[in-house]
Amino acid sequence: MLVEKNAPLQSCNTFHIVARAHSLVRIASQADVQTLLASAEWGPAPKFVLGGGSNIVLTGDVKPLVLKVEIMGRRVVRETARAVVLEAGAGENWHDFVTWTLQQGYPGLENMALIPGTVGAAPVQNVGAYGVELQDRFESLDAIDLENGQIFTLDAAQCGFGYRDSVFKHTSQPGGNTQRLGLAGRALITHVRFSLPKPWAPVLGYADLERKMAESGVREPTAQQIYQWVCEIRRAKLPDPDVIGNAGSFFKNPTVSPEQCADIIARDPKIVYYHLPDGSVKLAAGWLIDACGWRGKSVGQAGVYEKQALVLVNRGGATGGEVMTLAGAIQTSVYERFGIRLEPEPTVV
Ligand code: EPU
Repeated sequence: MLVEKNAPLQSCNTFHIVARAHSLVRIASQADVQTLLASAEWGPAPKFVLGGGSNIVLTGDVKPLVLKVEIMGRRVVRETARAVVLEAGAGENWHDFVTWTLQQGYPGLENMALIPGTVGAAPVQNVGAYGVELQDRFESLDAIDLENGQIFTLDAAQCGFGYRDSVFKHTSQPGGNTQRLGLAGRALITHVRFSLPKPWAPVLGYADLERKMAESGVREPTAQQIYQWVCEIRRAKLPDPDVIGNAGSFFKNPTVSPEQCADIIARDPKIVYYHLPDGSVKLAAGWLIDACGWRGKSVGQAGVYEKQALVLVNRGGATGGEVMTLAGAIQTSVYERFGIRLEPEPTVV
C-alpha cells in the first residue's frame, strides 16, 4: 500500500486551493480499505475521505490520512418492468456516469447532469438540480466503517436524506437515539445504486427548463433533450471548475416561516421564494446575496461569481481563509439586512 507523503491537493479540490495532505493513499477497492485498516501504522490513524473535492474548502494542510476514493466501475444490477437498477463505483465522475446511463438507454438522471464531483460524494450532500434530487433516484449504497472495517449497506431511509443533507454529514451525538446515527468521518462509501423508474417521465417545471421549452418550441422533450438543456443552463450561469475554481452553491437556500417571508416581501417585493409542501417557504439565497450587492465583489482572490451570487470563486491563488472571510462577510450582511443566517454548503477542512 503506497502512502504518498506531502501530496499536493490543488488538483483534488474544485476550488483549486493550494494545500497538501501530510499523507495520502489511493483507494481502488473495498480490499484496499481493509488492508489499510489492518495496518499497524495506518489502522488507528485519523482519516479524511476525499471524493472529487467538489464540496470542500481547504483552509490549510490536511493532517489526517487522506483516503482518495478511486473505486471505479458501472453496471446494470437488474431490470424489471418497473425500474432499472444501476450501480457505480464511488470514484466514478458523476457527470460521466449520468452521460453513460443515457447512452445505455436508461433515462432518469438527466436533470442532474454536469454536477461536479464523484458518484460517492453525491449521497453525502444529496445533490440535486432542476427539480430532481439524488434521493429521488437512489436505491442503496455500500460503505465501509472506518472504525471496524465492516462493510454495510444502507437504503434511502437509513441515509437520512434531507435538502443537501444526509447521515454522512453528521456525527453521532453521545446518548442520541440510533435513528439519528451520524456517519461523518466514519463511513467510506464504496458503491452507489440508483433505481430509475419505468416508464420514464420528464421532470420539467423548473423555471429555467420551462424557458428552454418555450424558446425551443419542443413540447415533449426526450431525456437527452433535457440533458442538453440542463448542460446549457449550467454552462451559462455556473462557472466550470476546470476553468474557475468553485464549489457550486456556497450556501443552502434558507427556509423561513410564511410570516418571516411576508415581512421580507413587505420590504423587498422582488424577493425570489418557493412554497414548500410543509407550509414553510424557501428563499433563493443567490437573490439575498445579490440584493446585498455582493455579485462580482472580492476579498483577496476569493470572489462572488458575476453570473450567480450563490457561487464563490477562486480568481487565482485564493486561500481557504480568503474564501471563508468572504463567506463570513456575506453572512453578516445578509443577516443585518434580512435577519437570515445563511448556512454554508461545503465542508470546511
Ligand atoms: N438569483 C438572483 N441573483 C443571483 C443568483 C440567483 O437573483 O445572483 C435568483 C435567480 O434569478 C432565480 C433564483 O435566485 O430566480 C434561484 O436561482 P437558480 O435558479 O440559479 O437556483 P439556486 O437556488 O441559486 C439551486 C441549487 C443549485 C442547482 C439549482 C438548480 C442550492 C443551494 N443550489 O440554486 O445547486 O443547480 O438550484 O436546481 O440549492 C449546488 O448545490 O452546488 C448547486 C449548484
